[in-house]
Amino acid sequence: MTLFAFVIGVVFLAAATLFVVGLHLMRLPSTARRGNLISAGGMAIAVIATIVFSLVTANGSWIGWLALVLGAAAGAAFGIVRARTVKMTDIPQLVSIFNAVGGGAAAAVAFADFVLHSSGLRLDLTSSIPIVLDVVIGSVTFSGSLIAAGKLQGVISGSPITFPGARIVNVLAIVIALAAGVFAIVVGNNVLLLVVVLLASLLFGVLMVLPIGGADAPVIVSLLNAFTGLAVAMAGFAINNQALIIAGALVGAAGTILTLQMAKAMNRSVLAIVLGGFGTGDSSSSAPDDAQDLSNVRELTADDVAVQLAYAQHVMIVPGYGLAAAQAQHEIAELAKLLLAHGIDVKYAIHPVAGRMPGHMNVLLAEANVPYEQMLQLDEANVAFDNCDVALVVGANDVYNPDARKPGNPVSGMPILDVDHAKSVVILKRSMRPGYAGISNPLFTDPKTGMFFADAKKGIADITAAVKEYVPS
Ligand code: TAP
Repeated sequence: MTLFAFVIGVVFLAAATLFVVGLHLMRLPSTARRGNLISAGGMAIAVIATIVFSLVTANGSWIGWLALVLGAAAGAAFGIVRARTVKMTDIPQLVSIFNAVGGGAAAAVAFADFVLHSSGLRLDLTSSIPIVLDVVIGSVTFSGSLIAAGKLQGVISGSPITFPGARIVNVLAIVIALAAGVFAIVVGNNVLLLVVVLLASLLFGVLMVLPIGGADAPVIVSLLNAFTGLAVAMAGFAINNQALIIAGALVGAAGTILTLQMAKAMNRSVLAIVLGGFGTGDSSSSAPDDAQDLSNVRELTADDVAVQLAYAQHVMIVPGYGLAAAQAQHEIAELAKLLLAHGIDVKYAIHPVAGRMPGHMNVLLAEANVPYEQMLQLDEANVAFDNCDVALVVGANDVYNPDARKPGNPVSGMPILDVDHAKSVVILKRSMRPGYAGISNPLFTDPKTGMFFADAKKGIADITAAVKEYVPS
């Protein structure tokens, strides 16, 4: 090994250390931003080191360099513009697009490496095995992530899409991909076999994600994120780049842990999700549940809600997807501040899968500068509900559905926020429509519940205005 190669290796190690430190800091909302910057710094160092290494070792033709510069410029421009303009509720589909790009790029790197060697001697196993695995995993991630992004964006129906014989075609696709992959490894330099691997894997990715309901799409996005990491690590083995191996392994491990945690918070196994989900992913189009007795619904006005809040001692705000959809985080933070200023104890109860992505509510409320100490996680919040005068639910439905305690429905067994333990419950949403899981919530008709039908942004602003009448400053 030359001294130069050794120095580059040390720089890659430093970049990997920054990835790990950054990931560690991302555990807490208070340090997550710094963690993100540190990891991004590590990635910048790794990219610069790779370019310097290629320049010094005169690795690559001018066409290769031109493609690299143009690709990097186009990718960076898209990344910067999309990341700055994306709506918070659209982040899962953006992540899915990033997964597709990552998986696709890893598969393309492996494919190109195989083609480069195909005219010469057959590749040895240490090269051909990672290349074939990379093409399989990267292609599945590419096509699967595009379908998941389409479902989350509503371009493809959020309902599970199946057709007669879909499972058989699915099994056939993966069997063909693996069989052709084994042959490609054994033969060592047959590009046609790798093309079969590529096409069968792309088909498998599509067929794997199409039958998954929109409600489960975020879990699949997280799983495909783990796949991206694996594909990138394999690409690292294929082209002998340590930074890629380490970064890929970290993404693979983090994605796997996140997938398992999300599945656990929904009380569903990853296998059950992959084999077929529930929910339509489009709560706005869900019809009200006819079986629910609507005559028991007690409707409230902003004024009624304000009276309850103004005379309460302990208020718990329960945010859900509707708060994000209405972008009402600043309004709710202002209402909470007003109540706090008048000596009322206000906390937020955060369910781990409230909203549509992990940490959705934490990120949303942090954007409105809600102090982290006011956000109670599931277990802490459930203790506090016993002493809560008013639980104000804003745009949530599934995360406190008491039916989760009973068997035989889509949310059975899901740990929930014990909103029904509060003395009084106010639910702010636009209608009686169910949420993501597509089932109604019996708490809507509970005698201690009042429904305030409004868009979250306007509804909270009206409540705040009314509260000011009762607690004049
Ligand atoms: P949901 O159960 O989906 O309920 C959201 C409610 O918000 C809807 O019932 C809707 O009722 C209301 N809403 C929508 N737009 C609104 C607006 N502009 N103003 C006021 N209300 C509005 O949400 P949740 O309680 O947060 O539960 C999350 C669901 O997503 C769970 O089923 C969870 O398993 C699933 N999920 C979450 C994740 C992650 S990681 N967060 C991942 C996968 C699945 P109206 O239409 O009547 O207004």
